[in-house]
Amino acid sequence: MKITIVGTGYVGLVTGTTLAELGNEVYCVDVDQEKVRLMTEGTVPIYEPNLEEMFLRNIQAQRLFFTTDLQMALKQSEVVFLALPTPPGEDGSADLTYVLGVAEQIGSLMDSYKIVVNKSTVPVGTADKVRSVIAGKTNIEFDVVSNPEFLREGFAVEDSMNPARIVVGCGSERARSIMSEIYRPFTNTGIPIIFMDEKSSELTKYAANSFLAVKITFMNEIANYCEMVGADVDMVRLGMGSDDRIGHRFLFPGIGYGGSCFPKDVKALIESGHQSGFDFQILKATEKVNKVQKTILVDEIEKFLGTLQGKKIAVWGLAFKANTDDIREASSLDNIRMLLDRGASVTAYDLVAESNVRKILGDQISYAPSMYEAIENADALLIATEWPEFKNPNFGIMAQRLKNKAIFDGRNMFSLDLARQHGFYYNSIGRTTVGG
Ligand code: UDX
Repeated sequence: MKITIVGTGYVGLVTGTTLAELGNEVYCVDVDQEKVRLMTEGTVPIYEPNLEEMFLRNIQAQRLFFTTDLQMALKQSEVVFLALPTPPGEDGSADLTYVLGVAEQIGSLMDSYKIVVNKSTVPVGTADKVRSVIAGKTNIEFDVVSNPEFLREGFAVEDSMNPARIVVGCGSERARSIMSEIYRPFTNTGIPIIFMDEKSSELTKYAANSFLAVKITFMNEIANYCEMVGADVDMVRLGMGSDDRIGHRFLFPGIGYGGSCFPKDVKALIESGHQSGFDFQILKATEKVNKVQKTILVDEIEKFLGTLQGKKIAVWGLAFKANTDDIREASSLDNIRMLLDRGASVTAYDLVAESNVRKILGDQISYAPSMYEAIENADALLIATEWPEFKNPNFGIMAQRLKNKAIFDGRNMFSLDLARQHGFYYNSIGRTTVGG
C-alpha cells in the first residue's frame, strides 16, 4: 500500500519507518526542508535504539521517501497519517493549529478518496473538527480515523513493531477494512486490533497515559510514606505487583515522571474535562504531587550539607529517562535550577542528552565528559536518570573523587547493602537512608 505520513517528529518518523518495514511505500512529508534533505541522505534526526538500521534499510529498498511536497505525496497515497505536534496551549489544552492546518491543506489538495488517520494525541472531538475542516474545502469523499500511538521513547522501534494493541476509532466500513489491511501483519501474529468510535479512541490515549502517571505518582507517595514509617518501598512494590490486577510495571518510585507525554497529557485531560464542566480530581492531585516529587532530594542534599551555598553538586543523568536524549520535563532540570538558585554549582554528565541541556542552560553549569570526572571534588552526587552505565559503578573511584561519600539517588540504582558495604551515605527514594 502507498501511505503518506505528515510530520516527521518522533511518532511520524517511527510510524513511517515501521509501515515501510511492513512492506508499504511510505512518503514522509515535513515542512522543514533541511530536515527532509538530511533524512533523504540517510541521517536519522532523533536518537532511538535500532531505528537507524531500519530507517536505512527501507530507504535503500526504496520504500521510505522524504519530501516537502504534500500534494505529490497525496497523489500517491489513499491513506494519510497525521503525526503532528499538539503542544500545550497557555491553559494546558492541546493546541490543534498544526493538525487543523494540515487538514485544511489536505482538503484543498486531495483529488480522490482519502483516509485521514490521526496518530497525534488529540482531545476528544478532534476527528469531528478535522472532518469539518476538510469538508469545508472539498466535495470528494473521505474518512477520518483516530489511531493513537502508544510507543515509549527509548523503545519506539520495539513498541511499534510489537504493540500491545492497536486502537482504531473509525465509523466507516470502507476505512475500517483498509485499516485492517494495513495492520494485518500485526493482527496475523495475534496482536489485537480494537475498533471503536473516534471519540473513545481519542480518549483511550489520554486515559492510558494519565493512568500510568497516576500509578507512578501513587507509588511515589507510598515511597515517601515508607521512609516516614521505616518500610522498604522495593518490598512493597514486589508484594503489590505480584497481584496481576496491579502488575509489576510502572510501579518504580523515583523523582517524578517527566517526558513529552505524561505531563502534557495529564494537563490536557484536566483542561478538556474543565471545558466540558468535569473536574478530574485525581489528575489534579497527581500533578501537584509530581511537582513536589521532582525536587524532593534537593532539600535532603541541603540538610546533609548544612547549606548549598558554594557547594559543588554532581548530577548523573539529564535525560527524562534512560535510552533517550529527550530532556522535556526532565526532573534533572528542576533539580539543577533549584540547586543553582540555592547557591550551589553543578557539574553534570549524561551519555547523550548533554547537547540538549546546553541549549537551555548554556554555561550555567559545567559538563563532564565521563561519570567519574563529574564527581571530582563534588560535595554530593545526585542521580537523576537510570542509565544502565550508573548501575555498577566503581565505588573505589567514587570514594576517591567525591569530597563527601554522599549519594542522593532519585532512581534507586543500588541496593542498600552495596552502599553500606562501600561506606557511603546513601539517600534514595522510599528506603532507609544508609550511613545517616
Ligand atoms: C509514555 C507512554 O509510556 C507511552 O505509551 C506514550 O505513547 C508516551 O508516553 P514515554 O514518555 O516515552 O512514554 O516514557 P515512559 O517510559 O512511559 O516514562 C515516562 C516517565 O515516567 C519517565 O519520566 C519515567 O522515568 C517515569 N517512570 C516510569 C517512573 O518514574 N516510574 C516507572 O515505574 C515508570
